[in-house]
Amino acid sequence: MRSNRENPFTPGFGAMPPYLAGRESAQDKIATILTSVAKGNAKHGDLVIIGPRGTGKTALLQWAAASANRKKGVFFRRKKPRIVLALPKTLKREEDVFGLFLNRKSFTIDSIETGVRGARANWAATGISLNDLFQRTAEHCRRHPTIVLIDEAHKLSPECCGLLLETTQSVRLLQGALLLILAGTPGLFDVLVRSRATFHERGDKICLELLSPEAAADAIRIPLAADGIAIGEDQLGRIVADSQCYPYFLQAWGKALWAVAKKHDSSSIRDEQIINASTEAGTIRQGLYENRRDQWQGEDRRFLVELAKIVRTQKTFDREALEEAVGTILARQQRGEAHVTAMMEKLVATDFLWKPWGSRRYIPGIPSLVSYVIEAEHESGPMIEGVREPFIVGEYAW
Ligand SMILES: Nc1ncnc2c1ncn2[C@@H]1O[C@H](COP(=O)(O)OP(=O)(O)OP(=O)(O)O)[C@@H](O)[C@H]1O
Ligand SMILES: [Mg+2]
Repeated sequence: MRSNRENPFTPGFGAMPPYLAGRESAQDKIATILTSVAKGNAKHGDLVIIGPRGTGKTALLQWAAASANRKKGVFFRRKKPRIVLALPKTLKREEDVFGLFLNRKSFTIDSIETGVRGARANWAATGISLNDLFQRTAEHCRRHPTIVLIDEAHKLSPECCGLLLETTQSVRLLQGALLLILAGTPGLFDVLVRSRATFHERGDKICLELLSPEAAADAIRIPLAADGIAIGEDQLGRIVADSQCYPYFLQAWGKALWAVAKKHDSSSIRDEQIINASTEAGTIRQGLYENRRDQWQGEDRRFLVELAKIVRTQKTFDREALEEAVGTILARQQRGEAHVTAMMEKLVATDFLWKPWGSRRYIPGIPSLVSYVIEAEHESGPMIEGVREPFIVGEYAW
């Protein structure tokens, strides 16, 4: 292997992976919208990227930013775009929304109220209207096509989210070149619904599920090969199965394998190196599992274990079936119907289960976490020692 290279794998830093695997259709969708913005075409909507934690939302946002900035890319020989990256903590008040586009000194608002009929501004004495703000933002976006990327968007308040969507829509109607990309966990669906911006339904959605086995193999093999490290199909197959095709675990495996190869100055990965690397990959994974399990304590934990058992044996889970399972367990715990909604919300908020846009089925964020929750409670089974042989039910490895 080549010396003096840093380990290219990046488990968990929200950093671009050395090879962004299996997201071609998402990348195509983003590229199409960026082209539309570059051409000054106002016909596109905003884009929402949703996926459980660790599935690659931040990586995809970074890819979008890099692709908009690329030399000789879609904006080549056109107006250079302005790229604004923001986190919800900088968007606490609705007034902050306009701060994304305009110099704060150029407008004064006492406050903005969002109600059933949409947003309304309460003006300072110098008062400009909300329409003025849209006009100014549109003017600005005609001069500089603007792409706003908001990560962790599930933490936005519904009011700010609604005003953001109303602003981007109004600005585009005024021929401003503006694109908003929101990325968040499945809780973002709820924020969008509560924002009352009904047109979000018509916007483009990208739902990030686990990678396909082929893409998962590429995520490991391609960066290793770039550093002169070969890995056989059998060994790769074991790692892919063990990782559950979850991008974060793949990066953990890649990092550990690369480190072992470097230590032994080896140019190929053999079985004993997989065993060595499994200790580090396993520690990273155990950290994630325990952190997720800690979010459930006391009777909620006991609830989760019972639900995990049902999830693991049942192949499809539509909303009614899930509500029924949740209700049955709660009744056994002598907790009333009133808890059903809260529990359904908690299952989604903790990424235990989620429902991709347009699907009727709830699926686990990480299937192996479901098994872990059961095994950890009963201290049975292999837990996650060594390389785990997955237990296949339906199309998922548990
Ligand atoms: N398509 C991919 N191929 C390979 N690795 C990936 C891919 N997408 C993401 N990763 C890697 O997986 C890890 C998690 O990705 P990322 O941080 O983007 O996830 P996230 O969805 O933003 O998670 P969170 O919700 O916790 O912020 C990172 O190490 C990232 O480099
Ligand atoms: Mg992220």
